[in-house]
Amino acid sequence: MPPTADNIEPTAFDAAGLFNIEGRTAVVTGAAHGLGLAIATAFVGAGANVGLLDIDADVLADVEARLKGRGRAVAHTVDVRDTVAVSSAIRDIATEFGGIDILVNDAAIFPSAPLADIDLDEVASVLDINVVGYLRTVQAALPYLQASGHGHIINFGSVTFFLGNPDGLGAYIATKGAVVGLTRALAREVSPLGVTANVLAPGAFPTRAEFGLYEDQAAFDRSVIEKQSVKRRGSVSDIAAAAIYLASDASDFVTGQTLLVDGGWTFN
Ligand SMILES: NC(=O)c1ccc[n+]([C@@H]2O[C@H](COP(=O)([O-])OP(=O)(O)OC[C@H]3O[C@@H](n4cnc5c(N)ncnc54)[C@H](O)[C@@H]3O)[C@@H](O)[C@H]2O)c1
Repeated sequence: MPPTADNIEPTAFDAAGLFNIEGRTAVVTGAAHGLGLAIATAFVGAGANVGLLDIDADVLADVEARLKGRGRAVAHTVDVRDTVAVSSAIRDIATEFGGIDILVNDAAIFPSAPLADIDLDEVASVLDINVVGYLRTVQAALPYLQASGHGHIINFGSVTFFLGNPDGLGAYIATKGAVVGLTRALAREVSPLGVTANVLAPGAFPTRAEFGLYEDQAAFDRSVIEKQSVKRRGSVSDIAAAAIYLASDASDFVTGQTLLVDGGWTFN
């Protein structure tokens, strides 16, 4: 309803309704582990239908079985480098659940090598997964997101893009900058069609990408907490909560943005 002098004063606010994703259908890539798994779990718990995409077939099968016990989930083992497999999985999910409302691009790899001598084939591969992979799912899901009338795309960025480190992650950091640019341009294209596109940029979260990287985990925890404004390590539910906001009608007027969930480590 257009604003008039008679209707601009708020009379009610339906908070629960705005954040409600019950009955919506989401596709989550990278759903077998870490933050993608946390988001898929939160979405199923919130009553959404969730299509789980990941390359790790064995773990994905376990995740599907677990989530099916709590709600509606279907797994497709897919390498996000495979355009045909991505399109076919997304079409199958849309057919099974009657459309797609939410797309979460989480899948990523983290090769470690100095930019000065990183193998360029490895750079091509990280770009293919971390950036082109996100565009592949967008191209496949866009007709459904548009038809939904409340489509939301969430692309994973990273605090590392704002920091320019840690050392050795240069190629990965470049992909996370590319995700910000891709999402801004995407927002210009798709928001007029009723679809928002935003970046969810985590700080440092204790997932398997982190464990094993540092000899002294307790010292790493302390160093992260020292840099953050919030004096605790982030938990996967901090990410899931932000994802529910960006996936729901609550964020309908927010597009092309990067939401840093990093405990106030950096400011965007
Ligand atoms: N954990 C952190 O501290 C942190 C910080 C900043 C950003 N992020 C971002 O969050 C996202 C998730 O990170 P995470 O820590 O949960 O990592 P993770 O390694 O635990 O999960 C990544 C998932 O992507 C899947 N995947 C990898 N390559 C794939 C491919 N080719 N096709 C399909 N699936 C593939 C993996 O199997 C895995 O399930 C990533 O985009 C990452 O860049 C994480």
